[in-house]
Amino acid sequence: MTETLTVPGFQHRTVLLDEAVDALNLEGARASGTYIDGTFGRGGHSRLLLSRLSDSGRLFAFDKDPQAIATAEAVGDPRFAIVHDSFATMHDALAARGVNQVDGILLDLGISSPQVDDASRGFSFRQDGPLDMRMDTTRGMSAAEWIATAPEQQLEKVIRDYGEERYAFQIAKAIVARRAIEPISGTRQLAAIVADAVKTREKGKDPATRTFQAVRIFINKELEDLEAGLSAAYAMLAPGARMSVISFHSLEDRMVKQFFASKVKVAQPDRRLPIRAVDLPQPLMKLIAKIKPSDEEVDANPRARSAVLRVAERLPGEAA
Ligand SMILES: C[S@@+](CC[C@H](N)C(=O)[O-])C[C@H]1O[C@@H](n2cnc3c(N)ncnc32)[C@H](O)[C@@H]1O
Repeated sequence: MTETLTVPGFQHRTVLLDEAVDALNLEGARASGTYIDGTFGRGGHSRLLLSRLSDSGRLFAFDKDPQAIATAEAVGDPRFAIVHDSFATMHDALAARGVNQVDGILLDLGISSPQVDDASRGFSFRQDGPLDMRMDTTRGMSAAEWIATAPEQQLEKVIRDYGEERYAFQIAKAIVARRAIEPISGTRQLAAIVADAVKTREKGKDPATRTFQAVRIFINKELEDLEAGLSAAYAMLAPGARMSVISFHSLEDRMVKQFFASKVKVAQPDRRLPIRAVDLPQPLMKLIAKIKPSDEEVDANPRARSAVLRVAERLPGEAA
């Protein structure tokens, strides 16, 4: 189900709202637990989580984006706290607040609609804006800064690996040729350079889609954060606690799927060794669900189209 949060300015329609929160199983005593929303955005999932918590429940949320933080600071619920940092830091950030174990974690990956729709953030090739693309505008390098200085081979690798773009070589070459003539500082400018370099067209897809996805993933270290975030989240889950992760493209979804699989199918010793079945390494997680948005949700919110929710539960077993 999609929900629209009405805030002044840009709106975000939360994807798989009920599905991701229902999966955390907040019934009974679990409503008094401690939970993490690693990607606050405009707070759609957080507000539903808070509505399901008892008075003694707690919710910690994270976001990199100062505008998301401003929205979160207006929540004004004593059970809720917001951290302006990557969810990859959740373990240390919450340990500093005396929390080492939680009863459920939600990650709704990628960017929010306000980030895409606000041309001044530089995420969109559909409208002209400065080539920024940082979720956290208070630190790090903008896309324009990176594109101005990156070696051609790095541009090519990022565009190929993170955009799954087969014209990565031609695009990197075109970027390097253009930046020798003029700075590449605008979204439409980059989109036009890419469109010239991409020789075939994918149906219903702007030729700049893959390159913009790649640059955004690189600038925001999205896959590094996801890898670190999944490990941190797993380490914080109490036995019986669940993790709901919504991803929006195949690179993310593959990482989530493989991470869960590595906890479900733990390495077994050589079968010829005399080890009793009871002493064999046990699964550390069990898979609960893989859910895609309904046709109705996709009709109402086309950005939900590529979403996949995966849910897994921590089992009592100890990591090897
Ligand atoms: C799809 S939106 C989340 C929407 C949110 N569930 C809602 O209902 O409003 C993703 C949000 O996560 C943030 N984000 C992405 N990666 C992050 C990370 N590694 N750490 C913290 N925040 C992150 C983005 O800035 C964005 O605000």
